[in-house]
Amino acid sequence: MIIDKRKIVIVGTGMVGMSYAYSLLNQSLCDELVLIDIDKKRAKGEAMDLNHGLAFANSNMTIFAGEYKDCADADIVVICAGVAQKPSETRLNLLKRNAEVFRSIIEPVTSSGFNGVFLVATNPVDIMTRITCTLSGFNPRRVLGSGTALDTARLRYLLGEKLDVDPRNVHAYVIGEHGDSEFVPWSQALLATTPILKFCGNEMYPISRESLQNIETEVRTAAYKIIDAKQATYYGIGMALARITKAILGNEHSVLTVSAMLRGEYGQRDVFAGVPCIINQNGIQQIFPLSLTDEELKKLKDSCDTLQENYEGIF
Ligand SMILES: NC(=O)c1ccc[n+]([C@@H]2O[C@H](COP(=O)([O-])OP(=O)(O)OC[C@H]3O[C@@H](n4cnc5c(N)ncnc54)[C@H](O)[C@@H]3O)[C@@H](O)[C@H]2O)c1
Repeated sequence: MIIDKRKIVIVGTGMVGMSYAYSLLNQSLCDELVLIDIDKKRAKGEAMDLNHGLAFANSNMTIFAGEYKDCADADIVVICAGVAQKPSETRLNLLKRNAEVFRSIIEPVTSSGFNGVFLVATNPVDIMTRITCTLSGFNPRRVLGSGTALDTARLRYLLGEKLDVDPRNVHAYVIGEHGDSEFVPWSQALLATTPILKFCGNEMYPISRESLQNIETEVRTAAYKIIDAKQATYYGIGMALARITKAILGNEHSVLTVSAMLRGEYGQRDVFAGVPCIINQNGIQQIFPLSLTDEELKKLKDSCDTLQENYEGIF
């Protein structure tokens, strides 16, 4: 019998890495989980802690603190290592420090012979994903970032609450930079099969253009509020990473807003930004094209310009 084990390596076992690991365990998403951190003692402690929960899990999993050579036969290497935002700090502020961190990570991962998919969470995530692609030399379709997956989840949650419907029936995306220039292309937002903009001004629904704008602002500033209240955000991103992982390992062809290299889509080239993509076992099967209005295209261009300018300062 051939048992094809699903193997994931997490680099960076801080709050984000371990929230993701905890989601993997609770959702039984892999068979082998390797934890790597520059702080080896921390990684070991985290592996012990998770292993002690195995007796209560739905299926078995091999979990251990490992080395970069363990990436050789991994399906996905997920990078959550680096510094996180401090209160009122922007994600772009982290760039120089986290670029240095990635120089020490990507080379040993690729040297191990790793031939799977890179998934990046470290901020500023779009630029860190691009750096991962550059340093690894991997096909860009096998390098993706969490992008605006979490922002999109926040948007669907808030719209669902406002409209009093299940967020899973809200089809709306946050696109562009996972950061201050992200935005919602409202022309593409649907409740079931009806454009949400059609409900504005309809007395039966409690929404208006202004309330949609407020929701968009709430999504854009959510991380600042959470960091101000509890120093870091991690459960939401942990679950977003688990959702992306499930799409990859399950070869789902699901549409998720991940950070992907644009190769002419929306008039952009080379830059990585959060856009809806079809995700399968190879990573990004295809960027799913949205029919953006001219105004939305301009917003996406501005967001991509910000990402491009910041990337150019690094190499
Ligand atoms: N993409 C998103 O939506 C999203 C959401 C929340 C946080 N983040 C980002 O995730 C990153 C991690 O956040 P956190 O709260 O887990 O931080 P954290 O400080 O809790 O953990 C970071 C971990 O990285 C490790 N590390 C540092 N340098 C390393 C290296 N060279 N090699 C290996 N490990 C190294 C540290 O030892 C630490 O354990 C941050 O950049 C943060 O901004 C992203």
